[in-house]
Amino acid sequence: MLAVQARGHEITTIEGLARDGELHPPLQRAFQNNHGLQCGYCTPGFIMNAVELLNRNGNPSEEEIRFHIGGGNLCRCTGYVNIVKAIKEAAQGGR
Ligand code: FES
Repeated sequence: MLAVQARGHEITTIEGLARDGELHPPLQRAFQNNHGLQCGYCTPGFIMNAVELLNRNGNPSEEEIRFHIGGGNLCRCTGYVNIVKAIKEAAQGGR
């Protein structure tokens, strides 16, 4: 979306997920556990996308996860398998 479209709305960035220096449990931790990133360039977008998915659907199927993350985020390192694993783990409450 264009920045002007967010006018008047609250915005949470990836930095806003961590609290008191701790990674967002369980999502950021699940990405770490499952090696859900390689270079990390795409990671903030995938995590924010996953937060939105898990807020709407706390137990998504793999197909739902793949559909949801396919809407505009690209991982040039092609780490999709581990990204999906991380989101599934987070949905199950993390390790
Ligand atoms: Fe490198 Fe996704 S981890 S672009």
